[in-house]
Amino acid sequence: MDDAPHIPVMLKEVCEYMNPQDGGIYVDGTFGAGGYTRALLDQANCSVIAIDRDETALVAAQNWIGSYGDRLKLVHGSFGDLKNHLLALNIEKVDGIVLDVGVSSMQIDQAERGFSFRFDGALDMRMDASQGETAADIVNSYKEEALANLIYQYGEERLSRRIAKTIVKNRPIGTTLQLADIVRSVVPRSKKSGLDPATRTFQALRIAVNDELGQLEELLDSTPDLLKKGGRLLVVSFHSLEDKIVKNFMRGQRIEASRYEPVVNEYIGSNYSSPFLMLSKKAFLPSKEECLSNPRSRSARLRVAERLEE
Ligand SMILES: C[S@@+](CC[C@H](N)C(=O)[O-])C[C@H]1O[C@@H](n2cnc3c(N)ncnc32)[C@H](O)[C@@H]1O
Repeated sequence: MDDAPHIPVMLKEVCEYMNPQDGGIYVDGTFGAGGYTRALLDQANCSVIAIDRDETALVAAQNWIGSYGDRLKLVHGSFGDLKNHLLALNIEKVDGIVLDVGVSSMQIDQAERGFSFRFDGALDMRMDASQGETAADIVNSYKEEALANLIYQYGEERLSRRIAKTIVKNRPIGTTLQLADIVRSVVPRSKKSGLDPATRTFQALRIAVNDELGQLEELLDSTPDLLKKGGRLLVVSFHSLEDKIVKNFMRGQRIEASRYEPVVNEYIGSNYSSPFLMLSKKAFLPSKEECLSNPRSRSARLRVAERLEE
């Protein structure tokens, strides 16, 4: 199968709002195919620390990274550990951080990675194939109630209990198509959206396998210490669970990932003010042209904030 090239989402807006300067140091926390990294390096004589937890993404870039010399440093790991990655490079603070959270087209198109219900592959879904439990481990070992909760919380799937029951009845489940067929057998296709009934369950498992919301929160929590005054934080997200976390963090509020049980944390207090200024209260959305030319961009939302104090 040919891998579709990954088209960077909202690249023009990312470059405009990051506005890289000569001599600046920027973090691309989700390197992927390197679309953002390259654009930032081409826009100014700056440096980029590019992180990806998927080693195959870093290997695929070996043929072009050399042209940027020591302006580009590639790091294998999670952006949730950004503070440690920067420490290891002797960098205290940076001028900007950008994230494009989610999976890349390359990951989706590699059937054996197990991200897509369009292809048959092992039910894996780990972005970092060297560690952690797979989606198969979860569906085959979790108790029915825990599975239902996971699918409800991370997939925002109303029929989670029915799905979990059917999964448990059909264990062991080893492949993506097996799981997709099990979900499709109990969830009707939405006439309105046309969405494949397996979509939400796959999203939930991917989020759980990769601790996606936890990693995002870790990263956000570290940004007040890691960004210089005036430094920018840009996050492109693709579903409401992530966008809500980003929006509330930038506003100086943080709630737990579940919209059903909001839990206020220590950030909210009568004398608390956010260390960030949001450039716009509303998320920036892709243009109509971009949505037409790159359907993957349709659900993207970009949020931008600037560090106020050091
Ligand atoms: C949507 S792609 C990024 C595409 C990139 N902006 C480009 O223009 O090519 C997301 C990438 O981020 C990586 N990723 C997701 N979560 C991560 C995390 N917590 N830490 C590091 N990399 C992560 C994935 O492995 C994937 O390669």
